[in-house]
Parts: sequence; C-alpha cells; structure tokens
Amino acid sequence: EKRIIIAIDGPAASGKSTTARKVADRLGYTYIDTGAMYRSVTLKAIESGLMDTLRSSPERVVDLLAGLSVCFSGDRIMLDGRDVTLAIRENRVSREVSFISSLKPVRDTMRQMQQDMGRGRGVVMDGRDIGTVVFPDAELKVFLTADVRQRAMRRYAELAVKSGDPSELPCLEDLEREILDRDRADAEREHAPLKKHPDARELDTSSLTIDVQTDMVCSMAEDIL
Ligand code: C5P
Repeated sequence: EKRIIIAIDGPAASGKSTTARKVADRLGYTYIDTGAMYRSVTLKAIESGLMDTLRSSPERVVDLLAGLSVCFSGDRIMLDGRDVTLAIRENRVSREVSFISSLKPVRDTMRQMQQDMGRGRGVVMDGRDIGTVVFPDAELKVFLTADVRQRAMRRYAELAVKSGDPSELPCLEDLEREILDRDRADAEREHAPLKKHPDARELDTSSLTIDVQTDMVCSMAEDIL
C-alpha cells in the first residue's frame, strides 16, 4: 500500500491540529504538529532570557539553535529532553512565536528536522508552510480556513475547559485580535509566509464539525491511495 504525505496548512485556530491528528489516527499515520516545534524554540528563547537580545540582534538566534533538541514522544513534545507539552501553550509563548518563527536560521533548522521526520512518508503534518516549502511534493495538500469569530470561539472553548477560574478568561474580542495579529505576522514575513499552495484543496471549516472535516480529508486521501 502506498504511503503518502498529507500537508495541512492554514491560519491560527482553524482546526488544523485536531483534524490532522484524527486523520493520522484513522490512516495509521504519524501526526507531526510543526507549530509545537516553533513554540518549543520560542519557549527556549524566553527561558534563556534572550528575547530582548534577539529583538535587537536577531542573528544571535544561532546560539539558541546550537544543540537544540526538539522531538515528539507519543503525544508529548520534548525540548532538550524535558516535556514541554503544556508550557508551549502559555500566552507568553503565543505572543512571541511569530517573531521567533520569522527568523531564517530557525526556519532552516525546523524545515530540516521536519523533512527528516517525513522521510519514510506516512505522515500528516500541520503548519503554515508544509505544502509550500517543507513538502511541496506532498501528495495531498489541504488549506483549512474558518472565519475569525468562529476561530476565536473555538479557542475560547478550549481555554474555558483548561482554566480553573472563568474570571481569568480573555474576552472574545481580545482573542480575535490576537489571532488576526498572528495571522498577519505569519502571512507578511519574508521567509516561508503563510499562504495557500496553488494545488492545495481549500476547506472552510466555519460550519463543519471535526468529524465531518476529518471525513472530508480522509476521503481526499483515499482518492489518492
Ligand atoms: O500552529 P500554531 O498556532 O501552534 O503555530 C504557532 C506559530 O508557529 C504560528 O503562528 C507561526 O508563527 C509558527 N509556525 C510557522 N510555521 C509552521 C508552523 C507554525 O511559522 N509550519
């Protein structure tokens, strides 16, 4: 049986990771969350106290990349041997991740790691530049979108489940603004900006359930397999 690469790209909170994980489960493929990799590098920059330095001297990011280890262990992500699955979702990381991801040495390092991970194919990889840059030869490319209100509501629901104290939840307008700011930064950067590959199948998930999205991507895959 043929094993392919499925590239799922799209803006923030468009349902990429939930869909990608379910598609991978169904096909018996490996799921790779490349956003989690960029978040891990960002966490490392923050914890090393390097953010101010990097803003004035971005070339110093190579210090951070030397000896960096980012890998997946089941559904956990490990940074230099430590489980950072929860830490990378914190707001302080979300706020800085677009800046760190815009740096060329970071992208070169991540792209290399991701290409290695996909070498044997049989992977579903989600991100911003998987179909355009990391695996332009992916057999199936999907571009997921959803209107921003819908994306903010999904993010809100996720936070509400995790948060112990509802009074600490951000308001919908703030979430919407954060999502749009991140999309703009990701789409306007010089290296590997967020954009739809001309061959990617665009799927607007605004009014779709996760199960329907998963079915649609799986049937696209089955047409190829
Ligand atoms: O997918 P997620 O929202 O967790 O990604 C966090 C950030 O990582 C994105 O906003 C983007 O700046 C960066 N990213 C990227 N390229 C990818 C995946 C994520 O630049 N392939």
